[in-house]
Amino acid sequence: MASNFLCDLKIGDEVQVIGPFGSSFLMPNHPKSHIVMICTGTGSAPMRAMTEWRRRLRQSGKFEGGKLLLFFGARTQQELPYFGPLQKLPKDFIDIHFAFSRTPGQPKRYVQDAMRESSADLAVLLKDSNTHFYVCGLKSMEEGVVMALRDIANDAGIGWEQISPVLKREGRLHLETY
Ligand SMILES: NC(=O)c1ccc[n+]([C@@H]2O[C@H](COP(=O)([O-])OP(=O)(O)OC[C@H]3O[C@@H](n4cnc5c(N)ncnc54)[C@H](OP(=O)(O)O)[C@@H]3O)[C@@H](O)[C@H]2O)c1
Repeated sequence: MASNFLCDLKIGDEVQVIGPFGSSFLMPNHPKSHIVMICTGTGSAPMRAMTEWRRRLRQSGKFEGGKLLLFFGARTQQELPYFGPLQKLPKDFIDIHFAFSRTPGQPKRYVQDAMRESSADLAVLLKDSNTHFYVCGLKSMEEGVVMALRDIANDAGIGWEQISPVLKREGRLHLETY
């Protein structure tokens, strides 16, 4: 609906714009922070818009920044164009994991499955107080993602019950689902 509305606009039409609301999806301000982005479909929009990875890309090679990880879930590979500039980033700059749920002949794969496959990396990041998690996309995905983080933390002996309130209190776990 939003795309059609924008495409149907004529030059000179006036549009009322509101937002952004609150301060829940802000990026950490220091270059050594690790950023884990987890999103499905249209939830990739805020990840595309985040300024911190753009700033790091401009400065890459000049200093060593924190880790960037991204998990993106979509129905098929054909939805990748919506993922935009993120898919063209160098592999040594950002670690990107795709999960496609409706590839013909393949079992359904969700972001939480890709996260569990990367549990060793995520466990290291969960232990690090410089790590920030951003989750955006379908409401139904939130539970699966949080369960994956819980299992990864517990398996690594970190204790999700201890770490989860700390992540929330320090503003390092951002959940934006709809
Ligand atoms: N993707 C786009 O760029 C785009 C652009 C314009 C409009 N739209 C429309 O916007 C609406 C929302 O689209 P969307 O792209 O945000 O979402 P979506 O395409 O409906 O879903 C994105 C991915 O999330 C998966 N998913 C569903 N339940 C999940 C769960 N419990 N845990 C983890 N992953 C789960 C979906 O798998 P399943 O195969 O199980 O559904 C799919 O792989 C749709 O009506 C779509 O047609 C989308």
